[in-house]
Amino acid sequence: MKVATSIASLRVELADARRSNRSIGFVPTMGALHDGHLSLIQRARAETDVVIVSIFVNPMQFNEQSDLANYPRDLAGDSELVAAERADVLFAPDVAEIYPPTFKTVVAVHDLSEPLEGVIRGASHFAGVTTVVAKLFNIVQPTVAYLGQKDAQQAVIVQRMVRDLAFPIRVTICPTVREADGLAMSSRNVRLEPDARRRAIALKLGLDVADEMIAAGERDVRAVVRAATRRMAELDVEPEYFDVVSADDLTPLRSIENRVLIAVAARVGGVRLIDNMLIQAPGGASE
Ligand code: PAJ
Repeated sequence: MKVATSIASLRVELADARRSNRSIGFVPTMGALHDGHLSLIQRARAETDVVIVSIFVNPMQFNEQSDLANYPRDLAGDSELVAAERADVLFAPDVAEIYPPTFKTVVAVHDLSEPLEGVIRGASHFAGVTTVVAKLFNIVQPTVAYLGQKDAQQAVIVQRMVRDLAFPIRVTICPTVREADGLAMSSRNVRLEPDARRRAIALKLGLDVADEMIAAGERDVRAVVRAATRRMAELDVEPEYFDVVSADDLTPLRSIENRVLIAVAARVGGVRLIDNMLIQAPGGASE
């Protein structure tokens, strides 16, 4: 596996692939890799000829300096994992390579950046995500980009950016990989103390309650949210939000119909966690 730290050297590595028309699969990450990230690399390896993984802890998407400073970093360990998945190139630029002092551009997807995570972290969080993803897409120019359903709002926003700006890229969203007890894998999980780790399952348990109620025919969002948050409270976890929104445009719903995204965020023992579930409910009365 090659490691490229500059845009110019990555382009050299990719020149052959492009000349010979080989498909390029791209997995953007912030490192501290776990099995969730690796599942994206495996999917790229299975579906595309040349696999590029990026590791870049993007300062522009952190709203708290302490979160940025505490974000787990392990480039040596990560690069072994990426190599073991038989990726072709690891792109690991430093901050100055992506954001030189002259950098002035923001790519923002309006409206979709405002609910859910946008309420807590500010809409500028997703402007940070879309700006860096747009830049990475232009650097790598992949055939297919692989993102995780774990970050459902990010997935919706990046797909919309690709459509709105006509990036010639296919985006594939891969299922959330979980620990044995159901906790969604996240780079932040390593910061959970034992008691918080035990209670962190509350997010998934709340989603399961919602899922079961909807499967049993419940259509009232308030009833679902009430029951789910009660379940979470049993583990002493209070959500920052537990929202039921349209899976396509993230608008809030009062009644559960069509493609629904149920998204939850909570701080557990000082660590911020998110999780979500996509549900296909029967269509509304108008259909
Ligand atoms: P990061 O949090 O490192 O995640 C990189 C990719 O891995 C994202 O597409 C994310 O959704 C996916 N992922 C994380 N946990 C997962 C899990 N448990 N199962 C499946 N996929 C999972 O998301 C980012 O980085 C950044 O915002 C980035 C897109 C790289 C832009 O900076």
